[in-house]
Amino acid sequence: MTKIVTSLLSLSLACSAALAADAAISAVKVTDSLDAVKANSAVWSKAKFSSVTLYPQTSIEMNDKNANAITDTLKAKKAQVGALYDGKNIALMVKWADGSKDVQAGYASTTYSDGFAVQLAGTTAKPQPLPYIGMGSAGRPVVVHLQKANEKVYEPNGNMDVSTQINRNQTALFGKELKEYDAKVASLATTNYARTFVGEGFRSLTEVKDGSAKSTSGMVYANGGWSGTLVRPLQDAYVNLSGTVPLAIAVWDGSKMGRNGVKNLSAWVAVNLEGQKPNEALLADLTTDSKGDATKGKAALETNGCNGCHQMSAADPKNFMAPSLRTIGGYSTAGYLRESIVKPSAVVVPGYNRNAHKNTPWYTLEKGKRISTMTDFSHLDKNTVEDIVAYLQSLKAEVE
Ligand code: HEC
Repeated sequence: MTKIVTSLLSLSLACSAALAADAAISAVKVTDSLDAVKANSAVWSKAKFSSVTLYPQTSIEMNDKNANAITDTLKAKKAQVGALYDGKNIALMVKWADGSKDVQAGYASTTYSDGFAVQLAGTTAKPQPLPYIGMGSAGRPVVVHLQKANEKVYEPNGNMDVSTQINRNQTALFGKELKEYDAKVASLATTNYARTFVGEGFRSLTEVKDGSAKSTSGMVYANGGWSGTLVRPLQDAYVNLSGTVPLAIAVWDGSKMGRNGVKNLSAWVAVNLEGQKPNEALLADLTTDSKGDATKGKAALETNGCNGCHQMSAADPKNFMAPSLRTIGGYSTAGYLRESIVKPSAVVVPGYNRNAHKNTPWYTLEKGKRISTMTDFSHLDKNTVEDIVAYLQSLKAEVE
């Protein structure tokens, strides 16, 4: 008996070590110019790579049944992230395993491409509290750099619309037109799909097209995995990076229908610019787990009826009342979870499906401001909140 107890205990200790927040990434200062850095540039030998875990985001049910089913079984992935900076730019490399190279051809809408994105918290005097991890929140902007593996992208008006429809099954009738069309597409299309967006929440995302965000990115596939690179200025109209930089990384897998919602996403992670004074408060927020007691937290959560609105494990029925919390710990910091409990309207998760559940909205609008329909739990004492946060942090999808 003693033996079983000890081995259970060591198992749970091993688990809690594995659940720790990702450590800070060090951006190494280099004298080389980073302007033209690509995945194969020699300067990457100077970078220090750190492991960052990317989780499926299960809080929001999508409109698409297949996509939801895929997300339900998606496992977390480990990525290796390295960073460099010179006086002007920061360069990031994200390496992740992906057994199939999925590159989308410009005219084919039935295949999905692999891709990656880097999200940065937008300019504020103090980047705290952080924006919602899912593309920002009201008053807390983000910048998202998105790179997809595309062979050719052809958008006549630059808005991702295609103006001509061609029926490929009718080559007998339209063979000539089809050939001409394909040739035109090939000559007009660009081979790189790299975009920068700014937003304060899902649906507010706007592409930056006026040249005010200058970044270069690319993706190279080798040995069963991708290396994605991004170079962007330390300072521009949207961010002012120094000391400690909060960023998040997402990857899409085309073979798993990866696009839009189906992705693996990190929590906010810290990048320290070596040689600069770190932002200690932000660093602590990004790398420190709650010190609460997760077992007590589970009990407190049930006493307070959180599970009446939220799905807490895959075994519970799906629920439209509120976002599912069954893997919330993977992509949330302790600070975000704390704030969600005591100030529900500070960040309002936007993604409820208006068509599927009109009668259970997640927020109401008051003078244009979103007010969460979640009960305010600011009356809970600090220890109880910490215990609940520790429990929520332990809810994560398994790593593949
Ligand atoms: C009356 C239903 C209801 C109850 C009870 C409730 N919540 Fe919520 N909760 C919501 C709704 C709706 C949202 C989404 C809107 C928002 O962001 O506030 C939400 C959002 C959240 C989020 C953010 C989720 C995400 O995906 O980012 C967390 C964390 C959370 N709740 C935790 C709790 C905890 C812990 C309790 C109990 C102490 C609780 N909730 C009780 C309805 C509820």
